[in-house]
Amino acid sequence: LLLLVIGIFFSNVIPARRWLSSIFLSSKGETALLIPQILEDQNPSSELAEYNLTAQRSTKEFIKGIKTETYGYNGDYLGPVIRVKKGETVSIKLKNLLGETTTVHWHGLELPGDMDGGPHNGIQPNETWNPQFTINQSAATLWFHPHPIHKTGAQVYKGLAGLIYIEDEVSQKLNLPKDYGQNDFPLILQDRRFTKDGRMPYDLGMMDVMHGFQGDTVLINGAVNPFLEVPQGKVRFRILNGSNARIYNLHLTKTSEFWQIASDGGFLEAPVRLNQVDLGPAERAEIIVDFSNFKTGEVIQLQDRDENLMKFIVKDKSTKNVTIPKSITSIPKIEPSSAKTTRKFVFQGMGHMVNINGKQMDPRRIDEELKINTTEIWEISNASTGMMGGGMAHPFHAHGVQFQILERNGKEPPKNERGWKDTILVQPGETVKAIATFKYKGIFMYHCHILEHEDSGMMGQFQVK
Ligand code: C2O
Ligand code: CU
Ligand code: CU
Repeated sequence: LLLLVIGIFFSNVIPARRWLSSIFLSSKGETALLIPQILEDQNPSSELAEYNLTAQRSTKEFIKGIKTETYGYNGDYLGPVIRVKKGETVSIKLKNLLGETTTVHWHGLELPGDMDGGPHNGIQPNETWNPQFTINQSAATLWFHPHPIHKTGAQVYKGLAGLIYIEDEVSQKLNLPKDYGQNDFPLILQDRRFTKDGRMPYDLGMMDVMHGFQGDTVLINGAVNPFLEVPQGKVRFRILNGSNARIYNLHLTKTSEFWQIASDGGFLEAPVRLNQVDLGPAERAEIIVDFSNFKTGEVIQLQDRDENLMKFIVKDKSTKNVTIPKSITSIPKIEPSSAKTTRKFVFQGMGHMVNINGKQMDPRRIDEELKINTTEIWEISNASTGMMGGGMAHPFHAHGVQFQILERNGKEPPKNERGWKDTILVQPGETVKAIATFKYKGIFMYHCHILEHEDSGMMGQFQVK
Protein backbone atom coordinates (compact mmCIF):
# COMPACT_ATOMS: atom_id res chain seq x y z
CA LEU A 1 0.00 0.00 0.00
CA LEU A 2 2.84 2.36 0.83
CA LEU A 3 4.34 1.79 -2.62
CA LEU A 4 0.96 2.53 -4.14
CA VAL A 5 0.65 5.80 -2.28
CA ILE A 6 4.18 6.87 -3.17
CA GLY A 7 3.51 5.92 -6.75
CA ILE A 8 0.34 7.96 -6.94
CA PHE A 9 2.06 10.88 -5.36
CA PHE A 10 4.89 10.94 -7.85
CA SER A 11 2.78 10.23 -10.85
CA ASN A 12 0.63 13.20 -10.02
CA VAL A 13 3.63 15.47 -9.72
CA ILE A 14 5.80 14.38 -12.60
CA PRO A 15 4.20 13.48 -15.91
CA ALA A 16 5.04 9.87 -16.65
CA ARG A 17 6.64 10.60 -19.99
CA ARG A 18 9.41 12.60 -18.34
CA TRP A 19 10.60 9.48 -16.54
CA LEU A 20 11.61 7.89 -19.76
CA SER A 21 14.09 8.99 -22.31
CA SER A 22 13.15 8.61 -25.90
CA ILE A 23 15.51 6.73 -28.18
CA PHE A 24 14.05 8.66 -31.07
CA LEU A 25 15.40 12.09 -30.26
CA SER A 26 17.90 11.80 -33.09
CA SER A 27 15.21 11.10 -35.64
CA LYS A 28 12.92 13.95 -34.67
CA GLY A 29 11.74 16.13 -37.46
CA GLU A 30 13.00 13.97 -40.29
CA THR A 31 9.88 12.17 -41.40
CA ALA A 32 7.08 13.60 -43.46
CA LEU A 33 3.59 13.27 -42.05
CA LEU A 34 1.83 10.29 -43.58
CA ILE A 35 -1.64 11.01 -44.85
CA PRO A 36 -3.91 7.96 -44.60
CA GLN A 37 -5.51 6.78 -47.83
CA ILE A 38 -9.17 7.34 -48.48
CA LEU A 39 -10.78 3.90 -48.68
CA GLU A 40 -12.31 3.20 -52.10
CA ASP A 41 -16.03 2.53 -52.28
CA GLN A 42 -16.31 -0.79 -54.18
CA ASN A 43 -19.89 -0.17 -55.30
CA PRO A 44 -20.60 2.20 -58.21
CA SER A 45 -24.19 2.97 -57.14
CA SER A 46 -24.70 6.11 -55.12
CA GLU A 47 -27.09 4.57 -52.57
CA LEU A 48 -24.83 1.79 -51.36
CA ALA A 49 -21.20 2.12 -50.40
CA GLU A 50 -19.16 -1.04 -49.93
CA TYR A 51 -15.83 -1.17 -48.21
CA ASN A 52 -13.29 -3.85 -47.40
CA LEU A 53 -11.16 -3.73 -44.30
CA THR A 54 -8.65 -6.32 -43.15
CA ALA A 55 -7.28 -6.31 -39.63
CA GLN A 56 -3.80 -7.72 -40.00
CA ARG A 57 -0.43 -8.17 -38.37
CA SER A 58 2.48 -6.28 -39.79
CA THR A 59 5.73 -4.48 -39.01
CA LYS A 60 6.56 -0.83 -39.35
CA GLU A 61 9.77 1.18 -39.23
CA PHE A 62 8.93 3.99 -36.84
CA ILE A 63 12.64 4.66 -36.92
CA LYS A 64 14.83 3.84 -39.89
CA GLY A 65 16.32 0.37 -39.76
CA ILE A 66 14.28 -0.91 -36.83
CA LYS A 67 11.22 -3.03 -37.48
CA THR A 68 8.47 -2.88 -34.90
CA GLU A 69 5.63 -5.41 -34.74
CA THR A 70 2.28 -3.75 -35.32
CA TYR A 71 -1.36 -4.27 -36.20
CA GLY A 72 -3.10 -2.31 -38.95
CA TYR A 73 -6.22 -2.10 -41.07
CA ASN A 74 -5.30 -2.72 -44.73
CA GLY A 75 -1.75 -1.69 -43.93
CA ASP A 76 1.05 -1.74 -41.39
CA TYR A 77 -0.32 0.70 -38.82
CA LEU A 78 -3.61 2.59 -38.30
CA GLY A 79 -6.07 2.41 -41.18
CA PRO A 80 -7.59 4.28 -44.11
CA VAL A 81 -10.18 7.03 -43.88
CA ILE A 82 -13.70 5.79 -44.60
CA ARG A 83 -15.49 8.72 -46.19
CA VAL A 84 -19.27 8.39 -46.30
CA LYS A 85 -22.21 10.63 -47.11
CA LYS A 86 -25.24 11.30 -45.02
CA GLY A 87 -28.17 9.21 -46.27
CA GLU A 88 -25.94 6.55 -47.77
CA THR A 89 -26.18 2.89 -46.78
CA VAL A 90 -22.81 1.45 -45.95
CA SER A 91 -21.69 -2.16 -46.03
CA ILE A 92 -18.31 -3.01 -44.61
CA LYS A 93 -16.60 -6.38 -44.88
CA LEU A 94 -14.17 -6.73 -42.05
CA LYS A 95 -11.75 -9.61 -42.27
CA ASN A 96 -9.85 -10.65 -39.18
CA LEU A 97 -6.35 -11.93 -39.94
CA LEU A 98 -4.95 -11.12 -36.51
CA GLY A 99 -5.00 -14.65 -35.17
CA GLU A 100 -7.02 -13.45 -32.18
CA THR A 101 -10.59 -12.30 -31.65
CA THR A 102 -11.33 -8.68 -32.44
CA THR A 103 -14.32 -6.40 -33.04
CA VAL A 104 -14.62 -3.14 -34.93
CA HIS A 105 -16.54 -0.39 -33.21
CA TRP A 106 -17.70 2.76 -35.04
CA HIS A 107 -17.04 5.40 -32.41
CA GLY A 108 -19.56 8.24 -32.71
CA LEU A 109 -21.87 6.62 -35.25
CA GLU A 110 -25.57 6.52 -34.47
CA LEU A 111 -26.67 3.02 -35.46
CA PRO A 112 -28.38 -0.15 -34.18
CA GLY A 113 -26.64 -2.04 -31.38
CA ASP A 114 -25.94 -5.17 -33.43
CA MET A 115 -23.92 -3.11 -35.95
CA ASP A 116 -22.03 -1.15 -33.29
CA GLY A 117 -19.03 -3.47 -33.01
CA GLY A 118 -18.96 -3.56 -29.24
CA PRO A 119 -17.71 -6.56 -27.25
CA HIS A 120 -20.77 -8.61 -28.36
CA ASN A 121 -19.83 -8.44 -32.03
CA GLY A 122 -16.70 -10.61 -31.81
CA ILE A 123 -14.99 -11.54 -35.07
CA GLN A 124 -13.11 -14.82 -34.73
CA PRO A 125 -9.73 -15.36 -36.44
CA ASN A 126 -10.15 -15.72 -40.22
CA GLU A 127 -13.80 -14.72 -40.02
CA THR A 128 -15.39 -11.81 -41.87
CA TRP A 129 -18.00 -9.55 -40.25
CA ASN A 130 -20.30 -7.61 -42.54
CA PRO A 131 -22.26 -4.87 -40.77
CA GLN A 132 -24.62 -2.66 -42.79
CA PHE A 133 -26.10 0.60 -41.67
CA THR A 134 -27.42 3.90 -42.97
CA ILE A 135 -25.68 7.16 -42.18
CA ASN A 136 -28.26 9.32 -40.50
CA GLN A 137 -26.30 12.10 -38.83
CA SER A 138 -24.54 15.33 -39.73
CA ALA A 139 -21.05 15.79 -41.13
CA ALA A 140 -18.44 14.79 -38.58
CA THR A 141 -15.05 13.24 -37.98
CA LEU A 142 -15.55 9.92 -36.23
CA TRP A 143 -13.31 6.91 -35.84
CA PHE A 144 -13.22 3.15 -35.66
CA HIS A 145 -11.25 0.85 -33.39
CA PRO A 146 -11.42 -2.64 -31.84
CA HIS A 147 -13.46 -3.28 -28.71
CA PRO A 148 -12.94 -6.88 -27.52
CA ILE A 149 -13.51 -7.30 -23.82
CA HIS A 150 -10.31 -6.75 -21.75
CA LYS A 151 -8.27 -6.36 -24.95
CA THR A 152 -9.24 -2.99 -26.37
CA GLY A 153 -6.16 -1.28 -24.91
CA ALA A 154 -3.75 -3.82 -26.37
CA GLN A 155 -5.25 -3.91 -29.87
CA VAL A 156 -5.58 -0.16 -30.25
CA TYR A 157 -2.06 0.23 -28.92
CA LYS A 158 -0.63 -2.04 -31.61
CA GLY A 159 -2.14 0.17 -34.28
CA LEU A 160 -5.80 -0.62 -34.90
CA ALA A 161 -7.63 2.67 -35.43
CA GLY A 162 -8.90 4.67 -38.37
CA LEU A 163 -11.04 7.68 -39.19
CA ILE A 164 -14.56 7.98 -40.54
CA TYR A 165 -15.54 11.20 -42.28
CA ILE A 166 -19.21 11.93 -42.75
CA GLU A 167 -19.96 14.58 -45.35
CA ASP A 168 -23.34 16.18 -45.92
CA GLU A 169 -24.87 19.19 -47.70
CA VAL A 170 -23.62 21.55 -45.04
CA SER A 171 -20.02 20.35 -45.20
CA GLN A 172 -20.04 20.32 -49.00
CA LYS A 173 -21.48 23.83 -49.35
CA LEU A 174 -19.42 25.62 -46.74
CA ASN A 175 -16.45 27.60 -47.91
CA LEU A 176 -14.08 25.78 -45.55
CA PRO A 177 -10.82 24.04 -46.38
CA LYS A 178 -11.92 20.61 -47.66
CA ASP A 179 -9.29 19.36 -50.08
CA TYR A 180 -8.09 16.17 -48.49
CA GLY A 181 -4.33 16.11 -48.07
CA GLN A 182 -3.97 19.68 -49.36
CA ASN A 183 -5.64 21.99 -46.90
CA ASP A 184 -7.64 19.45 -44.90
CA PHE A 185 -5.49 17.02 -42.90
CA PRO A 186 -6.20 14.33 -40.33
CA LEU A 187 -3.93 14.28 -37.28
CA ILE A 188 -4.14 11.17 -35.13
CA LEU A 189 -2.27 11.66 -31.85
CA GLN A 190 -0.98 8.62 -29.96
CA ASP A 191 1.69 8.12 -27.35
CA ARG A 192 3.86 5.04 -27.34
CA ARG A 193 6.80 3.55 -25.46
CA PHE A 194 9.62 1.87 -27.38
CA THR A 195 12.29 -0.46 -26.09
CA LYS A 196 15.92 0.04 -27.10
CA ASP A 197 15.57 -2.59 -29.80
CA GLY A 198 12.51 -0.85 -31.20
CA ARG A 199 9.74 -3.04 -29.86
CA MET A 200 6.51 -1.46 -28.71
CA PRO A 201 5.32 -3.92 -26.05
CA TYR A 202 2.03 -3.34 -24.30
CA ASP A 203 3.27 -4.29 -20.84
CA LEU A 204 1.29 -2.64 -18.12
CA GLY A 205 3.07 -1.67 -14.95
CA MET A 206 1.23 -0.66 -11.81
CA MET A 207 1.15 2.98 -12.87
CA ASP A 208 -0.30 2.08 -16.25
CA VAL A 209 -3.13 0.17 -14.62
CA MET A 210 -3.75 3.12 -12.31
CA HIS A 211 -3.59 6.04 -14.68
CA GLY A 212 -3.77 4.41 -18.05
CA PHE A 213 -0.85 3.85 -20.38
CA GLN A 214 1.41 6.89 -20.79
CA GLY A 215 4.06 6.77 -23.49
CA ASP A 216 7.27 8.76 -23.88
CA THR A 217 7.02 9.23 -27.64
CA VAL A 218 4.13 10.83 -29.48
CA LEU A 219 3.20 9.52 -32.90
CA ILE A 220 1.20 11.60 -35.34
CA ASN A 221 -0.44 9.46 -38.00
CA GLY A 222 2.13 6.86 -36.98
CA ALA A 223 5.25 9.04 -37.29
CA VAL A 224 7.57 10.42 -34.62
CA ASN A 225 7.67 14.22 -34.63
CA PRO A 226 6.92 14.55 -38.34
CA PHE A 227 6.76 17.64 -40.52
CA LEU A 228 4.03 18.76 -42.88
CA GLU A 229 4.24 21.35 -45.61
CA VAL A 230 1.20 23.58 -45.45
CA PRO A 231 -0.11 26.16 -47.93
CA GLN A 232 0.18 29.82 -47.02
CA GLY A 233 -3.47 30.13 -46.15
CA LYS A 234 -6.15 28.62 -44.00
CA VAL A 235 -5.72 24.97 -43.20
CA ARG A 236 -8.08 22.57 -41.48
CA PHE A 237 -6.85 19.87 -39.12
CA ARG A 238 -9.11 17.10 -37.96
CA ILE A 239 -7.48 16.06 -34.73
CA LEU A 240 -8.22 12.76 -32.99
CA ASN A 241 -6.77 11.94 -29.62
CA GLY A 242 -6.17 8.28 -30.37
CA SER A 243 -4.10 7.69 -27.24
CA ASN A 244 -5.06 5.07 -24.70
CA ALA A 245 -4.97 7.51 -21.79
CA ARG A 246 -3.09 10.73 -22.43
CA ILE A 247 -4.83 14.09 -22.29
CA TYR A 248 -3.37 16.70 -24.64
CA ASN A 249 -3.25 20.44 -24.17
CA LEU A 250 -2.65 21.56 -27.73
CA HIS A 251 -1.41 24.88 -28.95
CA LEU A 252 0.84 26.34 -31.63
CA THR A 253 4.06 28.30 -31.55
CA LYS A 254 4.28 31.69 -33.32
CA THR A 255 0.54 32.14 -33.40
CA SER A 256 -1.73 32.31 -30.43
CA GLU A 257 -4.97 31.69 -32.22
CA PHE A 258 -6.91 29.16 -34.19
CA TRP A 259 -10.59 28.41 -34.66
CA GLN A 260 -12.35 25.27 -33.59
CA ILE A 261 -15.12 24.47 -36.06
CA ALA A 262 -16.22 20.99 -34.97
CA SER A 263 -16.34 18.82 -31.87
CA ASP A 264 -16.81 15.02 -31.67
CA GLY A 265 -20.15 14.77 -33.44
CA GLY A 266 -19.85 17.53 -36.02
CA PHE A 267 -19.76 21.25 -36.68
CA LEU A 268 -20.21 23.84 -33.96
CA GLU A 269 -22.78 26.53 -34.71
CA ALA A 270 -19.99 29.07 -35.12
CA PRO A 271 -16.18 28.91 -35.12
CA VAL A 272 -14.73 29.33 -31.63
CA ARG A 273 -11.51 31.31 -31.41
CA LEU A 274 -9.05 29.59 -29.09
CA ASN A 275 -5.39 29.72 -28.17
CA GLN A 276 -5.34 26.14 -26.88
CA VAL A 277 -7.55 23.11 -26.85
CA ASP A 278 -7.67 20.19 -24.43
CA LEU A 279 -8.39 16.78 -25.90
CA GLY A 280 -9.10 13.74 -23.74
CA PRO A 281 -8.79 10.20 -25.12
CA ALA A 282 -11.16 9.61 -28.09
CA GLU A 283 -12.19 13.26 -28.36
CA ARG A 284 -11.96 15.04 -31.70
CA ALA A 285 -11.56 18.68 -32.60
CA GLU A 286 -11.53 20.17 -36.07
CA ILE A 287 -9.56 23.37 -36.14
CA ILE A 288 -8.59 25.97 -38.72
CA VAL A 289 -5.17 27.57 -38.57
CA ASP A 290 -4.38 30.63 -40.64
CA PHE A 291 -0.86 30.39 -42.09
CA SER A 292 -1.30 33.30 -44.50
CA ASN A 293 0.81 35.75 -42.53
CA PHE A 294 3.86 33.51 -42.40
CA LYS A 295 6.79 33.59 -44.79
CA THR A 296 7.67 30.67 -47.01
CA GLY A 297 9.84 28.27 -45.05
CA GLU A 298 8.68 29.38 -41.63
CA VAL A 299 8.18 26.61 -39.09
CA ILE A 300 5.30 26.47 -36.64
CA GLN A 301 5.26 23.77 -33.99
CA LEU A 302 2.25 21.94 -32.71
CA GLN A 303 2.86 21.47 -28.99
CA ASP A 304 1.37 19.59 -26.10
CA ARG A 305 2.24 21.76 -23.11
CA ASP A 306 5.94 22.46 -23.80
CA GLU A 307 6.60 19.37 -25.88
CA ASN A 308 6.93 19.60 -29.66
CA LEU A 309 4.66 17.12 -31.43
CA MET A 310 5.16 18.06 -35.07
CA LYS A 311 6.05 20.98 -37.29
CA PHE A 312 4.21 22.80 -40.01
CA ILE A 313 6.45 24.24 -42.71
CA VAL A 314 4.80 27.03 -44.64
CA LYS A 315 5.14 26.41 -48.33
CA ASP A 316 3.66 28.33 -51.20
CA LYS A 317 0.93 30.84 -51.79
CA SER A 318 -2.46 29.34 -51.45
CA THR A 319 -4.72 30.28 -54.32
CA LYS A 320 -7.93 29.40 -52.54
CA ASN A 321 -9.48 32.25 -50.68
CA VAL A 322 -11.16 30.83 -47.64
CA THR A 323 -12.68 33.12 -45.07
CA ILE A 324 -13.58 31.80 -41.67
CA PRO A 325 -17.37 31.92 -41.64
CA LYS A 326 -19.29 33.76 -38.91
CA SER A 327 -21.74 30.92 -38.60
CA ILE A 328 -21.44 27.33 -39.73
CA THR A 329 -24.64 25.48 -39.05
CA SER A 330 -27.55 25.38 -36.66
CA ILE A 331 -27.80 22.66 -34.08
CA PRO A 332 -31.32 21.83 -32.91
CA LYS A 333 -31.27 22.19 -29.14
CA ILE A 334 -32.57 19.21 -27.21
CA GLU A 335 -34.89 20.72 -24.62
CA PRO A 336 -34.18 19.54 -21.04
CA SER A 337 -37.94 19.58 -20.44
CA SER A 338 -38.31 16.84 -23.07
CA ALA A 339 -36.22 14.45 -20.98
CA LYS A 340 -38.14 11.55 -19.46
CA THR A 341 -35.46 10.45 -17.01
CA THR A 342 -32.28 11.58 -15.36
CA ARG A 343 -29.76 8.78 -14.90
CA LYS A 344 -26.70 9.04 -12.71
CA PHE A 345 -23.29 7.60 -13.48
CA VAL A 346 -20.63 7.86 -10.80
CA PHE A 347 -17.06 7.12 -11.90
CA GLN A 348 -14.97 5.99 -8.96
CA GLY A 349 -12.28 3.68 -7.65
CA MET A 350 -8.78 3.17 -8.93
CA GLY A 351 -6.42 0.62 -10.36
CA HIS A 352 -8.16 -2.70 -10.97
CA MET A 353 -11.09 -1.45 -8.89
CA VAL A 354 -12.26 1.33 -11.21
CA ASN A 355 -16.04 1.14 -11.59
CA ILE A 356 -19.21 3.00 -12.50
CA ASN A 357 -21.93 3.20 -9.84
CA GLY A 358 -20.06 0.55 -7.85
CA LYS A 359 -20.24 -2.01 -10.66
CA GLN A 360 -17.69 -3.40 -13.07
CA MET A 361 -18.46 -4.65 -16.56
CA ASP A 362 -20.35 -7.93 -16.73
CA PRO A 363 -21.39 -8.91 -20.26
CA ARG A 364 -24.34 -10.91 -18.88
CA ARG A 365 -25.79 -7.94 -17.04
CA ILE A 366 -27.73 -5.03 -18.55
CA ASP A 367 -27.16 -2.01 -16.32
CA GLU A 368 -29.61 0.48 -17.78
CA GLU A 369 -32.81 -0.04 -19.75
CA LEU A 370 -34.13 2.67 -22.04
CA LYS A 371 -37.08 3.09 -24.35
CA ILE A 372 -36.46 3.86 -27.98
CA ASN A 373 -36.92 7.47 -29.13
CA THR A 374 -36.85 8.87 -25.63
CA THR A 375 -34.75 11.75 -24.45
CA GLU A 376 -32.77 11.42 -21.24
CA ILE A 377 -30.41 13.47 -19.14
CA TRP A 378 -27.30 11.64 -18.08
CA GLU A 379 -25.55 13.04 -15.06
CA ILE A 380 -21.95 11.89 -15.00
CA SER A 381 -19.83 12.57 -11.98
CA ASN A 382 -16.25 11.81 -11.17
CA ALA A 383 -15.89 10.83 -7.53
CA SER A 384 -12.23 9.91 -7.80
CA THR A 385 -10.99 12.90 -5.89
CA GLY A 386 -8.02 13.27 -3.59
CA MET A 387 -4.92 11.14 -3.50
CA MET A 388 -6.64 8.01 -2.24
CA GLY A 389 -9.40 8.28 -4.79
CA GLY A 390 -6.98 8.45 -7.68
CA GLY A 391 -7.71 12.10 -8.41
CA MET A 392 -7.85 11.77 -12.15
CA ALA A 393 -10.05 12.80 -15.05
CA HIS A 394 -12.18 10.09 -16.69
CA PRO A 395 -13.34 10.51 -20.31
CA PHE A 396 -16.95 9.29 -20.37
CA HIS A 397 -18.16 7.77 -23.64
CA ALA A 398 -21.41 6.11 -24.72
CA HIS A 399 -21.99 4.17 -27.93
CA GLY A 400 -24.49 4.78 -30.69
CA VAL A 401 -25.54 8.27 -29.64
CA GLN A 402 -24.44 11.91 -29.62
CA PHE A 403 -24.97 14.13 -26.59
CA GLN A 404 -25.35 17.84 -25.94
CA ILE A 405 -23.72 19.03 -22.74
CA LEU A 406 -26.15 21.00 -20.58
CA GLU A 407 -23.95 21.82 -17.62
CA ARG A 408 -20.52 21.37 -16.15
CA ASN A 409 -20.78 21.75 -12.38
CA GLY A 410 -23.98 23.72 -12.81
CA LYS A 411 -22.48 26.10 -15.35
CA GLU A 412 -22.86 26.37 -19.10
CA PRO A 413 -20.13 24.38 -20.89
CA PRO A 414 -17.38 26.25 -22.76
CA LYS A 415 -18.26 27.40 -26.29
CA ASN A 416 -16.33 24.63 -28.01
CA GLU A 417 -18.43 22.07 -26.13
CA ARG A 418 -21.77 23.43 -27.25
CA GLY A 419 -22.04 21.04 -30.16
CA TRP A 420 -22.41 17.27 -30.43
CA LYS A 421 -20.29 15.21 -28.05
CA ASP A 422 -19.82 11.47 -27.69
CA THR A 423 -16.87 11.64 -25.31
CA ILE A 424 -16.87 13.95 -22.32
CA LEU A 425 -13.85 14.52 -20.14
CA VAL A 426 -14.99 14.68 -16.50
CA GLN A 427 -12.52 16.16 -14.04
CA PRO A 428 -12.15 14.90 -10.45
CA GLY A 429 -15.04 16.21 -8.39
CA GLU A 430 -16.92 17.39 -11.45
CA THR A 431 -20.50 16.61 -12.45
CA VAL A 432 -21.56 16.93 -16.08
CA LYS A 433 -25.14 16.88 -17.27
CA ALA A 434 -25.65 15.81 -20.85
CA ILE A 435 -28.78 15.17 -22.88
CA ALA A 436 -29.45 12.78 -25.75
CA THR A 437 -32.25 11.13 -27.70
CA PHE A 438 -31.81 7.39 -28.10
CA LYS A 439 -32.91 6.51 -31.62
CA TYR A 440 -31.63 2.99 -32.10
CA LYS A 441 -32.41 -0.34 -30.50
CA GLY A 442 -29.87 -2.68 -29.12
CA ILE A 443 -27.24 -3.19 -26.47
CA PHE A 444 -24.62 -0.47 -26.20
CA MET A 445 -21.66 0.29 -23.96
CA TYR A 446 -20.87 3.29 -21.82
CA HIS A 447 -17.41 3.47 -20.33
CA CYS A 448 -14.30 5.37 -19.47
CA HIS A 449 -12.23 5.87 -22.64
CA ILE A 450 -8.96 5.45 -20.77
CA LEU A 451 -8.57 2.05 -22.37
CA GLU A 452 -6.85 0.51 -19.35
CA HIS A 453 -9.82 1.58 -17.21
CA GLU A 454 -12.26 0.22 -19.75
CA ASP A 455 -10.35 -3.08 -19.84
CA SER A 456 -10.32 -3.22 -16.02
CA GLY A 457 -14.11 -3.01 -16.03
CA MET A 458 -15.01 0.70 -15.92
CA MET A 459 -17.79 -0.05 -18.39
CA GLY A 460 -21.49 -0.83 -18.32
CA GLN A 461 -24.25 -1.74 -20.79
CA PHE A 462 -27.45 0.03 -21.68
CA GLN A 463 -30.21 -1.57 -23.70
CA VAL A 464 -32.57 0.46 -25.84
CA LYS A 465 -35.85 -1.38 -26.49
CU1 C2O B 1 -14.20 4.52 -28.74
CU2 C2O B 1 -16.48 2.04 -26.60
O1 C2O B 1 -15.32 3.23 -27.69
CU1 CU C 1 -17.64 4.27 -29.00
CU1 CU D 1 -11.09 6.31 -16.28
